[in-house]
Amino acid sequence: MADMKKDFPVFKTNPWLVFLDSAASSQKPKYVIDGVSEFVASSYANIHRGSYALSEKSEDAYHASKTKVAEFLNVKANEIIYSYNATYAINLIAQALCKSKYLEKWDVVLVGIRDHHANIVPRQSLSEEYGFVVKFINIRSDYTIDRQDFNKKYDKKVKVVACSHISNVTGAIYDVSKIKEHLRLDTFFLVDGSQSVPHIPVDISKIGCDCFVFTAHKMMWYTGLGITYLAKEWIKKLQPLISGGGAIHDVDINDYTPASGVDKFEAGTPNIIAAVSLLKALEYIQKIWWMNRIWTHEQQMTAYVLAKFLVLEKAKKLELIGPRDVASRVGVFSFILPKIRNTTTVGEKFAAKKIAVRCGGHCAYPLHKHLNKAGSCRMSLYLYNDKKDIDTFFAELEKMVK
Ligand code: ALA
Repeated sequence: MADMKKDFPVFKTNPWLVFLDSAASSQKPKYVIDGVSEFVASSYANIHRGSYALSEKSEDAYHASKTKVAEFLNVKANEIIYSYNATYAINLIAQALCKSKYLEKWDVVLVGIRDHHANIVPRQSLSEEYGFVVKFINIRSDYTIDRQDFNKKYDKKVKVVACSHISNVTGAIYDVSKIKEHLRLDTFFLVDGSQSVPHIPVDISKIGCDCFVFTAHKMMWYTGLGITYLAKEWIKKLQPLISGGGAIHDVDINDYTPASGVDKFEAGTPNIIAAVSLLKALEYIQKIWWMNRIWTHEQQMTAYVLAKFLVLEKAKKLELIGPRDVASRVGVFSFILPKIRNTTTVGEKFAAKKIAVRCGGHCAYPLHKHLNKAGSCRMSLYLYNDKKDIDTFFAELEKMVK
């Protein structure tokens, strides 16, 4: 892929930056920054509330954003809900399942041991109040789902299965459509695509899940936007967690009638500006030839990084956490240095050389505990990373492990 860095102003303002922390949040291209500024300067007003031209323009942009994201994921725009971030989106649905009495005492929710806290903690917190039980699907030593463990736990009491599409620690891709094949029709199936949508082509209709959530800021959009796909029948069945203006059909002093469709899940003024940034980022992705090209570039970079990690691992200089083959993973690499146990020290050493990586538990403590690790260091790639970034990173890493 051509030098993508030139599209990202951050690399001009920080010419020495080696940014390897895109799994935490991605950098933003000029196309998005300029597009958002232009929108705010020319077309911004609150939506759903004004009959004047500016408000209508703003509302059109908000809807165009939903239409674009729906096209991108092969679903319908009227099945897309915008909220604050992926954690918020999962909380919204987890609460709605309880409030609507779909989940009751002694029911079971199965989540992945490899999952982000966003998919674990809301369930643990609600289980105390509603009495359902949270169980974990284990992984095998090759980081694939432990099918036997799943079969043992997936009994009639399981009402919800919720898991990530790609682990933010191991980078392992999970075949979520295969999980779906094994589920009964009465199981609500949620997929957290926060680490998949930015990197691999995703077709939600092929996965066949009831709900799919992800976050915008890891995909070149602004912060403050979580995206939820919710299947039509569930939009009807579930009661929203939050209500207020914009989410109602009628209100009087005795009662209110909620809005129909996804509007009932979007009380209050939405994040219009972030929604427009999403529209601009998807236009940018289309401009650089859609997801397949990003995926191909990332696979090439992933293969290059993986080979280097495996050499160091063979020499017993580090331990890599994650699949050893390119086809089962994305460019998210977590590792441990036996000689420098404190991961913060490793992060600081990289930071001193202007190399941005993330060190710690990565909001995935259950996975680290399952692997018997206190934490790890993580480098993660995106479309703007090139071999030079990778070589600089490994030159420093090799100095550290000498
Ligand atoms: N979920 C983000 C990460 O993995 C913040 O770093």
